[in-house]
Amino acid sequence: MDGELPEYQIRELTAENLERNFPSFCKTLEHLAPVDGLNSQEAATYLSEMNSQNAHVYVAQIGEGEIIGVATLLIERKMIHNGGLVGHVEDVAARKEYKGMGIGKRIMAHLIEEAEGRFGCYKTILDCSIENTGFYNKLGFYLKEMCMRKDPKPS
Ligand SMILES: CC(C)(COP(=O)(O)OP(=O)(O)OC[C@H]1O[C@@H](n2cnc3c(N)ncnc32)[C@H](O)[C@@H]1OP(=O)(O)O)[C@@H](O)C(=O)NCCC(=O)NCCS
Repeated sequence: MDGELPEYQIRELTAENLERNFPSFCKTLEHLAPVDGLNSQEAATYLSEMNSQNAHVYVAQIGEGEIIGVATLLIERKMIHNGGLVGHVEDVAARKEYKGMGIGKRIMAHLIEEAEGRFGCYKTILDCSIENTGFYNKLGFYLKEMCMRKDPKPS
């Protein structure tokens, strides 16, 4: 599969599509983190819960088959900014064998279009590793503040 990149579309992931293409969805997600423990039923439950919380999963897909890119857009309502909406980008991945072939750029361009055009977000933000800042810079993102994290104490 290395080398040639077939034609593909970017679309929002539906429950039916997830069920039909679960193996290639997982194969793409694996570029981010192991998903060995995830089964198709659980994934369907998570997708439904995400959608009910205004989180949308997008995929890059060859026809109606192989999923080769993935990204999530979470829409957050603010109390401030006149109840404005913020887009949070999460879990962006292109399939390993197609890395550097424009999938990440195309799926991100679609997410930005959705955040700004469909949802009317006044800003779109994300956390990323230092290594990936160049990728996001090319899409118009710039460094602003920083991400902090706290983990629960081990029980
Ligand atoms: C990061 C990732 C999504 C990029 O997707 P991709 O399809 O490989 O990247 P693209 O081919 O669309 O690259 C678009 C542009 O960004 C550049 N680019 C890609 N990765 C880059 C990086 N890490 N640093 C700097 N530039 C980068 C490309 O050279 C290309 O430049 P060009 O438009 O001038 O030709 C992909 O490599 C990936 O899945 N990585 C593993 C998971 C991950 O780290 N996800 C991000 C979580 S924050």
